[in-house]
Amino acid sequence: MNRNFCTFIICFLTIVFYNCGGDDIVTINTEPSPYDIASASRGGVMFDKFWSTEAGFNQSDTNLAKFNSRPDFYKCNHCHGWDYLGRFGSYIGRAPNTDRPRVAGLNLYAVLQTRTPQHLFNAINSNENRRNIDFTFNTYIPEDPNDSAHKMPDYSSILTHSQIWDLVKFLKEGVLDVSELYNASYSGIYPTGSAGFYNIGKDGNSVNGSAYYTTQCSSCHGNDGKLILIEGMSAGEFTRTRPYQVHHKMRYGRIGSAMTGNSDISPAQLKDLYKALSDTAAFPNQQ
Ligand code: HEC
Ligand code: HEC
Repeated sequence: MNRNFCTFIICFLTIVFYNCGGDDIVTINTEPSPYDIASASRGGVMFDKFWSTEAGFNQSDTNLAKFNSRPDFYKCNHCHGWDYLGRFGSYIGRAPNTDRPRVAGLNLYAVLQTRTPQHLFNAINSNENRRNIDFTFNTYIPEDPNDSAHKMPDYSSILTHSQIWDLVKFLKEGVLDVSELYNASYSGIYPTGSAGFYNIGKDGNSVNGSAYYTTQCSSCHGNDGKLILIEGMSAGEFTRTRPYQVHHKMRYGRIGSAMTGNSDISPAQLKDLYKALSDTAAFPNQQ
């Protein structure tokens, strides 16, 4: 047999084998993983309040009263911070009390950079070193760092797998580096430290930010941000006071209000918006 004929046979057999097994191979490769079909924007809403209607949580769930009676013991943002820095960020001075647990001694932002989605799923869907859903808080001592009230809840008995994948997708793809948006200075240590914020919007483009504000925000907040009082503050003032928090609301909405947020806003657009809102002449304090 000459060489060309051999090559022909090998090619022919290869084609036959590929076609026979082809269907199976195609099916395996295109089956979307639970991570692929998860929603980062729903995960972002859940990070704020997973049991809200906005997050699509079952409003007949029997644990609802439990979550509502002690929200800060269940909300991700309480223990991890809106800046994802735990007690090494804006919550450096947020001491525990009867209404809230200790802030996590873990820089979640840093940890996320090294974790696979599966690892994060396992950490959230775990009951190891977690607070049981039946925990009563009857003997809770806020000052005791080892009190189980401070532990991350056992979400494996609260959330479905697909809800946990939504959280994971948000953690991997939605979480941003807040140092891109503003500078912070921290002094002291948790729980008695303090934080200051400056350089809001950094080198962002305020012209672009103002244009975004005009089309997306002014209809509710007014041209100067003073139309809606937010805890006594204007939109600009609130942003300058809590830059670590408002980016999350701008993207995922303010739960329980008309503000739904825009999860498609990019970190660069957020920076531009921050820059615009840092201008106290255009966006003055409420008074
Ligand atoms: C009551 C406080 C508390 C709440 C609420 C909480 N966590 Fe945590 N979380 C912690 C603490 C403390 C740790 C670090 C120790 C540990 O892993 O148990 C942690 C660890 C983690 C880790 C593991 C990081 C790693 O090491 O891989 C992830 C992921 C995480 N939390 C996500 C979440 C999400 C998402 C929510 C909300 C659904 C949430 N946490 C709610 C306290 C909390
Ligand atoms: C549909 C109306 C509406 C739109 C559009 C809207 N907001 Fe809001 N916003 C609200 C309401 C209502 C609140 C809650 C006020 C309250 O009760 O505290 C709020 C809250 C806020 C807060 C406080 C967030 C927090 O952390 O609690 C900021 C900052 C803010 N808005 C800025 C903006 C910016 C910037 C935009 C545009 C990207 C925007 N809003 C778009 C209605 C709106």
